[in-house]
Amino acid sequence: MKFFIDSADLEAIREIKAMGMCDGVTTNPSLMAKAGRIDTDALLKEICRIVQGPVSGEVIATDADGMVAEGRRLAKIDDHMVVKVPTTYEGLKATAALAAEGIAVNCTLVFSASQALLVAKAGAAYASPFVGRLDDVSEDGMQLIADLVEIYGNYDFATEIIVASVRHPLHVVESARMGAHIATIPPEVVRKLVSHPLTDRGLAAFLADWNKLQGGN
Ligand code: E4P
Repeated sequence: MKFFIDSADLEAIREIKAMGMCDGVTTNPSLMAKAGRIDTDALLKEICRIVQGPVSGEVIATDADGMVAEGRRLAKIDDHMVVKVPTTYEGLKATAALAAEGIAVNCTLVFSASQALLVAKAGAAYASPFVGRLDDVSEDGMQLIADLVEIYGNYDFATEIIVASVRHPLHVVESARMGAHIATIPPEVVRKLVSHPLTDRGLAAFLADWNKLQGGN
């Protein structure tokens, strides 16, 4: 399973990459705003240099022609760039056009199996179903992942599933159990994935015993 980092924070990306836990990065306009850098193309270039794997940058246009023009510009930033396109009717047109030019597309804001099916047929390299946001409206985000793994498997679609809007470790573990290709994980959830109270308690006990052995109290 591949781990992408869902962030435009260079420090966090560098740190997690050094741990071997960053196979790619996804950004979106909100994450770019959080990073606070107005030179977004330069920021994406820096992320690509660190990650040396797929880095998604999102288009802002909402019409197909605008998305294609932006997508071409984003793709020129670096060979690792993936163009993120919203899953709308116009977005599907843009996806097919960009894919035909050999540009990798990540269709974002996927909330249903029907959308995911169209995204794969349009030739997207990635589909990003948002599990946390579905959970937020009392729908079962992980059930969508199970459906997509089944549907894509039935037809051997080349489109990879990026489990997105990940909010907690169970989203990642369940995604792995279901065989989703990728989870894009916020840095704070990466920290939660490693943390366990019994590890902390066990380590504290080992260190206390060691100190006693050394003649401390
Ligand atoms: C995916 O590529 C998106 O950037 C992201 O996962 C959205 O997550 P959110 O619902 O926490 O904003």
